[in-house]
Amino acid sequence: MPATITAIAHYYPEDKLTNKHFESYLDTSDEWIKTRTGINERRIMKNGATSDMIVPAALKCIENAGIDKQEIDCIIVATVTPDHMYPSTAAVVQHKLGIKNVWGFDISAACSGFLFALKTAASLVESGAAKKVLLCGADKMSSILNMNDRNTAILFGDAAGVCLIEKSNDDNYGILDSILHIDGIGGQYLNQKAGGSAHPATKETVENMEHTVYQDGKTVFKYAVKGMADVSKEIMDKNNLTSEDISFLVPHQANLRIISATAERMGVGMDKVMVNIEKYGNTTAATIPLCISEWLEAGKIKKGDNLILSSFGAGFTWGSIYVKWNMNK
Ligand code: COA
Repeated sequence: MPATITAIAHYYPEDKLTNKHFESYLDTSDEWIKTRTGINERRIMKNGATSDMIVPAALKCIENAGIDKQEIDCIIVATVTPDHMYPSTAAVVQHKLGIKNVWGFDISAACSGFLFALKTAASLVESGAAKKVLLCGADKMSSILNMNDRNTAILFGDAAGVCLIEKSNDDNYGILDSILHIDGIGGQYLNQKAGGSAHPATKETVENMEHTVYQDGKTVFKYAVKGMADVSKEIMDKNNLTSEDISFLVPHQANLRIISATAERMGVGMDKVMVNIEKYGNTTAATIPLCISEWLEAGKIKKGDNLILSSFGAGFTWGSIYVKWNMNK
């Protein structure tokens, strides 16, 4: 039996940064940001860590699932902004939630973090190694941004999405297929230079802002368009799905132009694409669960819908997962 998503919830901080805010001190404009990225505003967590966004989303998810939190036997956190290098954010979340007999770990796959973690959680459930996995995709990107770099400051935001992964009750519903990739060629184009064992923190690395996101946007854009469009089409073909069969494309929200190019390649109209980048920007591991949770809350997803989840991110990492939705709201 395949694994499936049995509950989902999200959290975003109250504080907003609009494009106008960046206009006030950077050489940029609301118009440039809107037309080049699709972003109008993003949420920023002023106080607290990534785990502090995960916990409220997790509590809501557990409530939506109608389970006792002690039934959860594994916690996975996909993030590139962990509370600490160690302990894992999964351990921090376990402690804050007070879940007793559980194990867990973090996954680092940047903007593909949620998909890589979803595949991992599904494999654990399908093999019988876990029964109820709390799967969290969350990033406090504002903690690693250079707010004076117009190339990156405008792109990202903070949020969390949490879902519960369990065995499906039907062979034909759930997480049905996945194609995932990693290629270290991307390291030079999108990275955080210092803070790891290659370049531990020094006074100089801090002064040079080497603990913040570096991105060669133009190059990443080219790889992202090809990577995300190709893999999304590939998973459709592999599963004999036509564009009519697709209920929703759920793309990682990095740039509206990358999303449109992917939809076009799949032959899917924008009315079938989940887009909320205008409100949140790129929240890295949170974009996909945030979309699904919002669409579900709005009653737009129904049992039997075919969802194609697709992402591209630092590494490079990219991939697609085919989900036949298994629940009504
Ligand atoms: N405001 C105004 N101008 C800006 C700007 C801003 N906020 N940010 C960059 N620019 C400038 C650049 O410096 C460049 O100027 P130059 O030509 O004088 O060097 C110019 O705009 C055009 O830059 P370019 O990189 O061609 O723009 P773009 O159309 O590619 O858009 C990104 C830039 C970053 C929005 C886009 O490249 C992108 O989305 N990249 C991929 C992001 C992504 O998918 N990441 C992966 C997952 S995290």
